[in-house]
Amino acid sequence: MEFPHLHLAIENRVATLTIDRQKALNALNKEVIQALHDAIEWLDEQADVRVVILTGAGEKSFVAGADIAEFASFNEAQGEALSADGHRLLFDRIAAAKKPYIAAINGYALGGGLELAMACHVRIAADTARLGLPETSLGLIPGYGGTQRLVQLVGKGRAMEMMLSAGMIDAPTAERYGLVNKVVALDELMQVAQSMAASFLKQSGQAHAAVIQAVNAATEGGPGFGAEQNLFGALFSTADFAEGTSAFLEKRKPSF
Ligand code: CAA
Repeated sequence: MEFPHLHLAIENRVATLTIDRQKALNALNKEVIQALHDAIEWLDEQADVRVVILTGAGEKSFVAGADIAEFASFNEAQGEALSADGHRLLFDRIAAAKKPYIAAINGYALGGGLELAMACHVRIAADTARLGLPETSLGLIPGYGGTQRLVQLVGKGRAMEMMLSAGMIDAPTAERYGLVNKVVALDELMQVAQSMAASFLKQSGQAHAAVIQAVNAATEGGPGFGAEQNLFGALFSTADFAEGTSAFLEKRKPSF
C-alpha cells in the first residue's frame, strides 16, 4: 500500500510508518495529514499488523510542526478549521487507533510534531532529539491537542513553562519529565522501538485495543480540547500572529 509522503514497511506484524517531507523538516501540511489519516485507517484494518512505529525520515527531524507557510495567510475561521480538521483526521484518530503506536523521535519534535508524538501511545527519543511547543513564538498556541496532552504527560507547571517560553528541551530532560519513555542513541532508535514492539506482540491485541479505549476514556475529548481549537482560531486575527509568522518566513526573530 502507498501513501503520499509516507514510507510503509511491514515485517513480523510490526508496521513502520515514516514521514518523508525532508525539505520542510517533515512539517505537516494538508496532504501529509490526509495521508497519515488514510494510513491509520488502513493499518487499523490489517489483521497482520499488531503494532505501529511512527518516525520521521532523515536524521534531523521527526516533525518540525504544522506547515507555517501553509497557514500564514489564514483567517480566524480557517485557523479554527485547521485545528478541528487536524484533530479529527490525525491527532484524535491516532490516539484512538485499535493498536499501539510507538513514536520513534529521531530529531526535532516541535509544535504539531510533538503533538503527534504525544497523540501516540508511547514515545522513545534519540539522544539528539529536541522537543518543544514553540507556537507562542508565532503568536499562536498549540492547536493539535498539545495544551491538553502535554499537561497530562509532564504536569501543569512544566507544560506551562514549555509553552510560555516556546523553548526546546533535550531528550534527557524529556525523559526526566516523563514526556518520553526512553532515550537511546540515534543509531539504536529503530532497533529499540522494534524490541518494545516485540514485547507488545507477546500480549493480546484485543486487550491492547481495550487498554487504549479505557485510558482514552479518562484522557481524551475533555472540554480543554474544544477550548484550544476556539482560542487557536481566534489568534489568527491578531497582530502578533501576523508578526510571528512573517518573522519565521523572513528568517528573523519576532518583535512582540
Ligand atoms: N513549517 C514550514 N516549514 C518549515 C517548518 C515548519 N514548521 N519547519 C522548518 N521548515 C522549513 C524551513 O522554512 C526551511 O525551508 P527553506 O529551506 O525553504 O528555507 C527548512 O524547513 C529547513 O529549516 P531551517 O532552515 O529553519 O532549519 P534550521 O536547522 O535553521 O532550524 C528548526 C530548524 C529550529 C526546527 C526551525 O526550522 C524551526 O524553528 N521550525 C519551526 C518550528 C515551529 O515553530 N513549529 C511549530 C509550527 S506551528 C504548529 O505546529 C501549530 C499547531 O500546533 C497546529
